[in-house]
Amino acid sequence: TESERSMPWRKDWVDPKKIKEDDVADVLAKRAYEVWVSEIMLQQTRVSTVIPYFNTWISKWPTVQDLAKADHDDVLSAWKGLGYYSRATRLHEGAKQIVSQSKSACPIPSTAEALQQIPGIGRYTAGAVSSIVFGVPEPVLDGNVVRVLSRQLGVYADGKDKKITDRFWEVADQLVKRVSGFPEVETSKVPGQWNQALMELGSTICIPRPKCEECPIQRTCRAYSEGVILNEQKLGHN
Ligand code: ADE
Repeated sequence: TESERSMPWRKDWVDPKKIKEDDVADVLAKRAYEVWVSEIMLQQTRVSTVIPYFNTWISKWPTVQDLAKADHDDVLSAWKGLGYYSRATRLHEGAKQIVSQSKSACPIPSTAEALQQIPGIGRYTAGAVSSIVFGVPEPVLDGNVVRVLSRQLGVYADGKDKKITDRFWEVADQLVKRVSGFPEVETSKVPGQWNQALMELGSTICIPRPKCEECPIQRTCRAYSEGVILNEQKLGHN
């Protein structure tokens, strides 16, 4: 839609059925690498800061194989200014591990389970890569998604409490599978679009001081209907 923000790592979903069979593995590997790098950069850093770093990174190391061969000091210097340098180190380690262990044509695995074996890839990044690139109905949950779901469901609990986040992972899992129809049959762009829509809503509209008048899902929002939305203290995650 028009309201989509433009970001260099956001591209149309690649439908494997619509590209030449010989190219599928390379195209998916490239997309998976880009989404992985962007999601790691975005974890503690805002979009506008990440964009130039992402572009420089991808022109220096366009593929996971290029990153695997990189000099570690170059990797750290490309990260300079982003902070949390362990993210860069683990990205580099992850690339080396992927390249040394890859058996199939696409070196980056598609399942959330296999992705989580890679250094620096936790449940969130695994869900993002698996759903956005490979079209697998796997959930993502970050602080923004927790806020959207808490408000929609009227769960006024501490969004940082492990018991609560575990429950939200279950909810996010059920939702992405439900909107994806018959996930056992085929992959599609739906899981990635759904997950990104939730994250986007949580980072642009359903923010700590929410813009409820602009919200596309105001009508189904329990917190809104209960009139508690401006009472931020009731939402433990603000
Ligand atoms: N924040 C971090 N990753 C995102 C994504 N893929 N879509 C929307 N917001 C995000």
